[in-house]
Amino acid sequence: MAGTTGRTVAVSGSASGIGRTLAELLRDRGDEVIGVDLRDADVRADLGTPEGRAAAVAGVLDRSGGTLDGVVACAGVSGPTPLTVAVNHFGAVALLAGLRPALARAGRPRAAAVGSISGTQPVDDDVLRACLDGDEPAALAAAEEAAGRGAGNRLYPSSKAALARWLRAASVSAEWAGAGIPLNAVAPGVVRTPMSEPLFADPKMREAMDRAVPMPLNGYAGPEVVAEALAWLISPANSHMAGQVVYVDGGAEASLRGPGAY
Ligand code: NAI
Repeated sequence: MAGTTGRTVAVSGSASGIGRTLAELLRDRGDEVIGVDLRDADVRADLGTPEGRAAAVAGVLDRSGGTLDGVVACAGVSGPTPLTVAVNHFGAVALLAGLRPALARAGRPRAAAVGSISGTQPVDDDVLRACLDGDEPAALAAAEEAAGRGAGNRLYPSSKAALARWLRAASVSAEWAGAGIPLNAVAPGVVRTPMSEPLFADPKMREAMDRAVPMPLNGYAGPEVVAEALAWLISPANSHMAGQVVYVDGGAEASLRGPGAY
């Protein structure tokens, strides 16, 4: 695959799980990876705060010299708290949007985010609306309110649904498609990583998870499965896919939404 390696790619969430596996895969292929994470990363920054996001973007621009071939927004958390909305939606959007000018300077730039099968599950409408309005204070206030009335379990689905919707709208805009930058997402089912490990420890949680995310094709995935899909989405081979949320989920989305989704 001449010309497909030696690219410079920023990967958030590079210290663990899917992001870490992707960073290793890309480095093995000869890419330069600029990892972004809270710890153990080239750029240490907190994507949960506006200041941290600005520091993440500045740190990546500094290390890359201002031109990037790829960006993958993978960092995420799954707790039933407002932080999940801050990191998963606003952190991912800020990283992608903040690094977009550096992508636009490359020859064959690509970008991807990590969604989730959870993005197809019931959401908190107020949180979703505020996310799509780009109003973080309102989104965090609505998330706090949802958590307070025992609906915290809607925050992770809300954060991933908002990210997918933002991405679909942005992907076909002048800034992304118009600038020749494919922007897409992978939406995993259950992946065995430190994030999902606590679910496996508790038989009751595992049962609930299996009901919520049926995976008839090969069961739970390893992080390398999702990393391979992300690697393709940001490869030069992907020249015409825009705004797609690709479910790499063992058949969960097809099982849950059925043939009527198309
Ligand atoms: P993980 O917990 O192993 O890795 C997540 C990484 O994100 C960690 O290194 C963590 O430090 C980093 N991170 C968290 N908050 C951050 C912040 N504020 N600033 C910077 N970095 C931060 O989790 P995993 O499973 O690898 O998750 C990666 C992505 O995949 C997440 O977006 C997650 O929502 C998504 N996902 C995971 C699934 C699973 O079953 N593990 C299923 C579907 C989606």
